[in-house]
Amino acid sequence: MPGKDVRIALVAAVAENGVIGRQGRLAWHLSSDLKFFRKVTMNKPLIMGRKTFESIGKPLDGRDNIVITRNTAYEAPGIFTAVSLEEALELAHEKAGARSADEIAVIGGAQIYELALPRADRIYLTEIHASPNGDTWFPELDKAQWRETSRERFAAGPGDSAGYSFVVLERTR
Ligand SMILES: NC(=O)c1ccc[n+]([C@@H]2O[C@H](COP(=O)([O-])OP(=O)(O)OC[C@H]3O[C@@H](n4cnc5c(N)ncnc54)[C@H](OP(=O)(O)O)[C@@H]3O)[C@@H](O)[C@H]2O)c1
Repeated sequence: MPGKDVRIALVAAVAENGVIGRQGRLAWHLSSDLKFFRKVTMNKPLIMGRKTFESIGKPLDGRDNIVITRNTAYEAPGIFTAVSLEEALELAHEKAGARSADEIAVIGGAQIYELALPRADRIYLTEIHASPNGDTWFPELDKAQWRETSRERFAAGPGDSAGYSFVVLERTR
């Protein structure tokens, strides 16, 4: 089956209180995480919600940008649209094949993480060492289903509003 070996990964930055966003944006400034995000998603098909796409404001270069929306008339330069997660995954597998990418990156927001979590094989989680106010949260993770395979902790560098840890979780079954 085409795309069978392509992993589905969520890529998310989550604060200690579960917050991932505030008023349509991130709730922190972390240039280290933006660099990490670029590296981990480069050359891969990306799946994102319409609100996250509008928050970023442009397609991300070097990657296929697949935007999920119920609005069948939605369009913007440099993106593909899909009306469901299923349609987005089908297109992402096609694009992964064309790029020889081994991973599809689901980059949020909350609604799309929630939809895609049951399908995910891996989570690239940036734990933000802060508890900012917010209005959007990462879904609850069932600890029994995820195994931590990597963790690196960093103090806030220049352009970072908090310390953070890069964590990789793999599905246990
Ligand atoms: N910290 C992080 O790692 C991170 C990552 C990404 C985003 N964020 C933050 O998260 C917030 C945005 O998240 P969000 O949950 O509000 O929005 P979102 O998940 O980015 O997008 C929601 C939109 O996706 C579409 N959608 C959702 N479910 C669908 C379905 N079942 N079928 C078809 N379309 C569907 C709808 O678009 P239409 O309304 O067009 O139909 C919906 O309004 C922002 O604050 C952003 O900065 C944080």
